[in-house]
Amino acid sequence: MFKSEIYVQRRKKLQQQMKSGLLLFLGNEESPMNYPGNPYHFRQDSSFLYYWGLDEPGLAAVLDVDSGREMIFGYDFTVEDIVWMGPQATLKERARRAGVKEALPIQKLDEIIINAVKQGRDIHYLPQYRPDNVIKIEKLLGIHPRLVNHYTSLKFIKAVIAQRSIKSSEEIKEIEFAVNVAYEMHTYAMKNVKPGKSEREIAGAVAGIANSLGNGLSFPIIFSIHGETLHNHYHGNIMKKGDMAVNDSGAESLRHYASDITRTIPVGGKFTTQQKEIYEIVLRANTESIRSMKPGVKFRKIHLQAAHIIANGLKDLGFLKGNVEMIVKEGAHALFFPHGLGHMLGLDVHDMEDLGEQYIGYDEKTVRSQQFGLAYLRMAKELQPGHVMTVEPGIYFIPELIDLWKSQKKFAQFINYPKVEKYRRFGGIRIEDNVLVTKNGRQILGKPIPKTVKEVEALMH
Ligand code: GLY
Ligand code: MN
Repeated sequence: MFKSEIYVQRRKKLQQQMKSGLLLFLGNEESPMNYPGNPYHFRQDSSFLYYWGLDEPGLAAVLDVDSGREMIFGYDFTVEDIVWMGPQATLKERARRAGVKEALPIQKLDEIIINAVKQGRDIHYLPQYRPDNVIKIEKLLGIHPRLVNHYTSLKFIKAVIAQRSIKSSEEIKEIEFAVNVAYEMHTYAMKNVKPGKSEREIAGAVAGIANSLGNGLSFPIIFSIHGETLHNHYHGNIMKKGDMAVNDSGAESLRHYASDITRTIPVGGKFTTQQKEIYEIVLRANTESIRSMKPGVKFRKIHLQAAHIIANGLKDLGFLKGNVEMIVKEGAHALFFPHGLGHMLGLDVHDMEDLGEQYIGYDEKTVRSQQFGLAYLRMAKELQPGHVMTVEPGIYFIPELIDLWKSQKKFAQFINYPKVEKYRRFGGIRIEDNVLVTKNGRQILGKPIPKTVKEVEALMH
């Protein structure tokens, strides 16, 4: 964790934002894989980590905004636990590391909450995504599990999002560390992707790098020669010369900050002419989008600019026809680019998505589109200094989507279906970087990872 003053300051700021009430934070529990004693890798809740820093299961915390009283609830380990787990810090000691004086047994939480309820005080909690924490809220507040996420505190959600959206220098260092681990993951993949190897061999080794240098992967690795499937977690294919492997993978730093990088690798070490033509369009969309990032610019504007670049490039190659403005306005380009340009990055790879994307990426001035493709844009509002974003344009040939649109004659005035048909086995290309918005512009985080055709091919040889 960071030094205790950082958590003290973060809570002080939150307290000032909230003005009154009791803030209830639930940490995560162990999550069993196939029996209770065999849990998945433990991951603490990110807002709990952000404000309290403690990285173990079985914890809760309360911040009384009116009095400033701060309490951590949990338990001390018994000698029997320690026989299996090794020496453990006491709850009091762990609370001290978070800058908190009061460490109380978890059973006390009930009493604190009941007293607050009796006094008619507001008790604020955040959206819950784990069933055991939904049940905890039910027990503490008597809210039916089905309604727990209806009674979350919008004021609390917005205060947390406002604070976590602007990354401090120590957070940026963490993300940069995670990108540098991703540098090792991605350059390893480039050097080791070879015809005849299985995807699993590379995906497994890449995950191993994330484990050995950081705190493992920041999300399940997407590594596939079928990059047209946006989130492809199947690793059973043998790679052949002429395939392209999409590697979308990132690491977690030791303090749990994420990176999220994508590169597309030609199996055999050289892109074909057709691959290169499409790759250059995606690369241009990536670099031009990054170049346009600065405070005050809406990320939706940059997404639409990337859509223009993609539509223009695909028109030049004969996949699209007609007026590019109209193609993008109507959404015909989304056959090839059906997702958003990027999302916030921080403690979560899709930062704070548990708190509600409508509050992270949208605001009163920025309403979400319903159009296929644009509707998936996770972040549309104005950029601010301190935002960390992914920028990840792509072009894909998705056979099922092509078949559907073709059968509906959808956008037949814009899409050259006979030409598209010839590319139905092409796969997909995505290129993704992690970018900090600065006072005057932007900065790509971490060591530059080979990205141009020349750089990728050079590393592979
Ligand atoms: N890296 C996967 C995603 O952004 O959804
Ligand atoms: Mn991403």
